[in-house]
Amino acid sequence: MMFASALLLSSVVPVVLGQSAPPSKSTGKLPALGWNTWNAYGCNINEAKVLAAANQFVSLGLKDAGYQYVNIDDCWSNKSGRDPNTHRIVPDATKFPNGIGGLASQIHNLGLKIGIYSDAGTMTCAGYPGSLGNEMLDASTFGEWGIDYLKYDNCNVPANWTDSSSPPGGDWYNSNSALRYRQMGDALAAQSRPIQYEICIWGQANVWTWGARVGHSWRMSGDASPSWSYITSIIKTNVAHLNYTNFWAHNDMDMMEIGNGALTIQEQRTHFAAWAFLKSPILLGTDLSKLNSTQLAIIKNKELLAFHQDPNIGTAATPFKATSTAPTTSPPEYYSGASSKGTHVFIINTGSSTATKTFTLSNVPGLGTSGTFKIHDMWSGTDLSGTYSASSSFSVSVAAHDTVTYLLTKVA
Ligand SMILES: *[C@@H]1O[C@H](CO)[C@@H](O)[C@H](O)[C@H]1NC(C)=O
Ligand SMILES: *[C@@H]1O[C@H](CO)[C@@H](O)[C@H](O)[C@H]1NC(C)=O
Ligand SMILES: *[C@@H]1O[C@H](CO)[C@@H](O)[C@H](O)[C@H]1NC(C)=O
Ligand SMILES: *[C@@H]1O[C@H](CO)[C@@H](O)[C@H](O)[C@H]1NC(C)=O
Repeated sequence: MMFASALLLSSVVPVVLGQSAPPSKSTGKLPALGWNTWNAYGCNINEAKVLAAANQFVSLGLKDAGYQYVNIDDCWSNKSGRDPNTHRIVPDATKFPNGIGGLASQIHNLGLKIGIYSDAGTMTCAGYPGSLGNEMLDASTFGEWGIDYLKYDNCNVPANWTDSSSPPGGDWYNSNSALRYRQMGDALAAQSRPIQYEICIWGQANVWTWGARVGHSWRMSGDASPSWSYITSIIKTNVAHLNYTNFWAHNDMDMMEIGNGALTIQEQRTHFAAWAFLKSPILLGTDLSKLNSTQLAIIKNKELLAFHQDPNIGTAATPFKATSTAPTTSPPEYYSGASSKGTHVFIINTGSSTATKTFTLSNVPGLGTSGTFKIHDMWSGTDLSGTYSASSSFSVSVAAHDTVTYLLTKVA
């Protein structure tokens, strides 16, 4: 291994302008599906809570539905600092009595994967040891523990590692921000274990332009909140950069808030549908035991998950002009996209009352201008009655903040 000697010589990865090691192609082809501790528990985490989520993946049928990653967020390590001898980050022995490695084996034994968290600064957001300057040591520690996914945050960055203005030539790949993430990317690429890499850079440094050269997914914004305003604002942000999403390249709209706060069931449906059809990672963020059957049905919807996890088509759905006179809205309400099954249409009612939404079939990109189609409702898994010619329009009444999801198939 080329990197073995480098690993022994130094824990610091020398960064040179130019090219960094590309992220592993053995992981991260499809947007991650899983769970993360943060939105559910914040810093109040421990092995029992993480294992409970892993066991619920199995008992609630989430594992069978494709959910795989059980991810630990901030506050897992010993806050008083690194081991004075080995200089390694040490797990908090009270919260994680079997260490992270011991927890990783238990999660792997359930047929699942485990993720961990660190920070491209001197300390994490909650003040635990960060990885800046210790990338190789920390990546090899994570690899040894059996870690499959790293969320790498952006707090406590020394002033000389920030960017006060656009870098020379507007080349954000060579900005200080990108270099901090590239150092960890190089260190992860040097591990024998494939580790999916989430660049948690809050939409800074034009990350979508260089994210795929460094990691598998990148956050487009600051932290999510369980609010309709967050959902619409992140959809708007993401829609402006959708062409960067593809296999191994995921615009991350942040972790799920289904089950948290006071989102209506329609808003929770839109939350899930939009993350699925825009191909964002979907990391559940609630105490799974509290989800009711309606919420479970949303997050286990087979057809939306199949669109999200399509092995043949990596691109996201994109907005389209629904009728010749349709007004432009922000965020857009009408989206279409392709899957292995065919052509899909997704419609969000962004308004605060029930409204009729209409599209002309021939306006749907890829559908063509002739023929007859049937329309299948992905939420219910049933075909709507009747057929529609390409020149006809389809109308549906959509509740406030709800989303309808369709597959259109040519029948003649
Ligand atoms: C953190 O590390 C210190 C120093 O090694 C040790 O005394 C303490 O018990 C550790 N605390 C936890 C919760 O692991
Ligand atoms: C910031 O300062 C530290 C400590 O002097 C140095 O190791 C590091 O290379 C500097 N970072 C940049 C981007 O110049
Ligand atoms: C996305 O679109 C922008 C602006 O048109 C373009 O510069 C960029 O190369 C595109 N990226 C991809 C991955 O196609
Ligand atoms: C589940 O909770 C949502 C609110 O989050 C509610 O609208 C829905 O009716 C509940 N479903 C059941 C079966 O209780």
